[in-house]
Amino acid sequence: MYRISELGELVGLSRTTLLYYEKLGLIQGERLGNGYRTYSERDLQRLRLILQLQAGGLTLKECQACLEAKIDRDLLMNRLQALDDEIVQKQRSRALLASLLGEEGQTDWHDQASKVAPDEHLAWLIKQGFDEKEALRLKWLSKNMNEHEQYMADFMHVFSALDRWGPGFEGDTLQALSAVPFKPTNILEIGCGRGIATTVLAQNTDAKITALDNETTALERTIERATEAGVAEKIETVNASMTDIPLEKGQYDLIWAEGCAYVMGVNNALKQWRSLLSDNGVLVLSDMVWSVESPNPAIAAFLGSEYPDLTTAAVRIEQAKAAGYEVIDTFTMSKDAWEAYYTPLGERVAELEVTMTGSAALKDIKREVELMTTYFGDVNYQLFILAKAK
Ligand SMILES: C[S@@+](CC[C@H](N)C(=O)[O-])C[C@H]1O[C@@H](n2cnc3c(N)ncnc32)[C@H](O)[C@@H]1O
Repeated sequence: MYRISELGELVGLSRTTLLYYEKLGLIQGERLGNGYRTYSERDLQRLRLILQLQAGGLTLKECQACLEAKIDRDLLMNRLQALDDEIVQKQRSRALLASLLGEEGQTDWHDQASKVAPDEHLAWLIKQGFDEKEALRLKWLSKNMNEHEQYMADFMHVFSALDRWGPGFEGDTLQALSAVPFKPTNILEIGCGRGIATTVLAQNTDAKITALDNETTALERTIERATEAGVAEKIETVNASMTDIPLEKGQYDLIWAEGCAYVMGVNNALKQWRSLLSDNGVLVLSDMVWSVESPNPAIAAFLGSEYPDLTTAAVRIEQAKAAGYEVIDTFTMSKDAWEAYYTPLGERVAELEVTMTGSAALKDIKREVELMTTYFGDVNYQLFILAKAK
């Protein structure tokens, strides 16, 4: 037999709690002649059972019901489901905190944030100390605040040997240029990369070309290429961000942007760049689009997180019209454009795999090459030739 204080000590419950349990009939004390209450071994065991059930998430009332009658399976199933939901939620919270502290990968967190609140996510990254260029690269490429520098160093190492930094092909560039209904005199090329289209435009027009990018090495290569082709005197480079172009408004009769508008969002680019165009000026841009209604789930999942804003050519056309453009022409780029980018990139990955073992950037690029090569046709690149509407 146990006194109430002994019983309380054995099960870790207070006297008040035990008296309350007694009132509910969960235990049954006996009053001795001397006025003390005593409890039996059965009371002790009932209390231990109640504590065990409570640890399983049951309320006191539910514990009582379980002790006094047959187990209510529905009740337990509901409790189990509630616990499972709580665990999932808690695991999410844990993963978020751990990733922000750098203990785990941050890809999912950045993917989600970028998807549900793209502008705020970017603004937040800038508050964490990244300049706009690095914040954009983090958002699109590394998705990791703690390993960003190493990731970008590896990434740039892969691309330093390649001139094409996105799908594109000389024949497609020329086809788009031939759709421009006048001879351009003042071209602004945005996101020129290493200057492939820049040289093609210089060789095939009499225009002055301003080539803008925010990557110094790309601009250096642009000049080098143009010099090799003997057209350097037509080209001037500007190292600036496409999100805030420090050039006079209304002066370009042609803006050229291959494979780069996505960086700031195609819709934003359409709206912001329009003011740089002269009256009747033309904007040519290329972007990735879905080519089929039901893409393969593997590529749909990959691009759903890598490029959440990816859409169809028809949607881009509607966006262009809403932003104040008329569509002069639009066409799907050739398979050559895809191969001109992904074939050398795949070869470069294979070459570097031996030395860059463990590189997250190389792993990501490899995965992209594999998926994009396998599912070419579900997605493609589209060129849009748009005139500034009055
Ligand atoms: C996918 S690459 C395309 C390059 C080139 N047009 C081509 O087709 O090879 C995107 C280009 O945009 C540039 N870029 C990225 N963010 C930028 C920004 N905020 N401002 C200016 N250029 C940017 C990159 O440096 C890169 O050269």
